[in-house]
Amino acid sequence: MSNPAAVAPVDPAAIPKRTLSAGATMPAIGLGTYGSDRVSAAQVAAAVKGAAAVGYRHFDCASVYGNEAEIGASFQEILRGGIKREDLWITSKLWNDKHSEDDVIASCRKSLADLRLDYLDLYLVHWPFPNFHPPGCDVASRSPDAKPYIHENYMRTWRKMEQLVDLGLVRHIGTSNMTIPKLKLVLRDARIKPAVNEMELHPHFQQPELFHFVLANGMIPVGYCPIGSPGRPERDRTPEDTSPTEDPVILRIAERHGIHPAVVCIKWAVQRGQVPLPFSVHNYRANLLGVVGDPLTDEEMRSIAAIDRNCRLIKGQVFLWKEGQTWEDLWDINGEITPP
Ligand SMILES: NC(=O)c1ccc[n+]([C@@H]2O[C@H](COP(=O)([O-])OP(=O)(O)OC[C@H]3O[C@@H](n4cnc5c(N)ncnc54)[C@H](OP(=O)(O)O)[C@@H]3O)[C@@H](O)[C@H]2O)c1
Repeated sequence: MSNPAAVAPVDPAAIPKRTLSAGATMPAIGLGTYGSDRVSAAQVAAAVKGAAAVGYRHFDCASVYGNEAEIGASFQEILRGGIKREDLWITSKLWNDKHSEDDVIASCRKSLADLRLDYLDLYLVHWPFPNFHPPGCDVASRSPDAKPYIHENYMRTWRKMEQLVDLGLVRHIGTSNMTIPKLKLVLRDARIKPAVNEMELHPHFQQPELFHFVLANGMIPVGYCPIGSPGRPERDRTPEDTSPTEDPVILRIAERHGIHPAVVCIKWAVQRGQVPLPFSVHNYRANLLGVVGDPLTDEEMRSIAAIDRNCRLIKGQVFLWKEGQTWEDLWDINGEITPP
């Protein structure tokens, strides 16, 4: 690759940035890398390279996605091609079966080795539940060792996350799939507060209360499934699910701007103030162009705010820890942590 920055159709400097409470800035859009059952590690790794060439500088990785080694080879090529490490923002995540104190540092080192990096910009606790389940398992699958959220245990994991910062292996740490009552406890007890909370966010699942709580507490809301995850596997679908890219309001705005409805979702996300992580192996260029192109009008932003359907797509059923529960129990919808 010759100097990819020179041929990038989007100047990385033109991409909006978000400032973390510690002062660092992260690009306001990142490429998702979860290929799920459908997209191979090689295809995702190729998309990472292609995305860097068109101007992406932010990549959302995780050990459980099973493709960090392939993506690491892409990062190596990207860096050899002239993009500087300090101009990239790379996130990875601690998987649920690695919460124990002995595993956190080793797991992070494994991601670093696979990704061929000396440090991560951001390392997240992927889920607040330390429950192993085999990749690709059915949503009805339950681990006999499944546990609820136990704050003392989470904080033991978090102390190790803090140590990763002290060791210089990661620059920032954050949470994912948290709720307000859980975050309140972590914010109370953490020496290093979470820099971000990664959460499902799209026009049909706007989570206004959590979104504002995250911002009000000095964290950045990072949004996954920003397009409504149209490619997610069958096992992650229920008959009640709705699709933001089929919503008449989104379709109308897309037509007005001459863009794909997915790009409307991305524009809305960045303008609202979250950091979307669209996954794409075919359309990543259009998504990036969307965030530097003409903005949505105030009226369009208001009309999208009005189509929230509180429709959670990633329900997390496999994390349930006892019989007779529903997935809502994972999300503390009564404002208190669901008792064990
Ligand atoms: N923290 C967590 O627990 C968590 C959970 C879920 C996801 N995530 C992160 O969030 C990322 C995104 O979530 P996701 O992959 O489920 O869903 P998504 O980004 O909402 O949707 C991705 C799908 O949209 C399509 N797409 C993207 N841009 C498009 C465009 N401009 N026009 C038409 N189609 C377009 C992609 O197809 P093409 O590839 O064909 O473009 C792909 O099928 C993941 O990859 C992962 O990094 C994190």
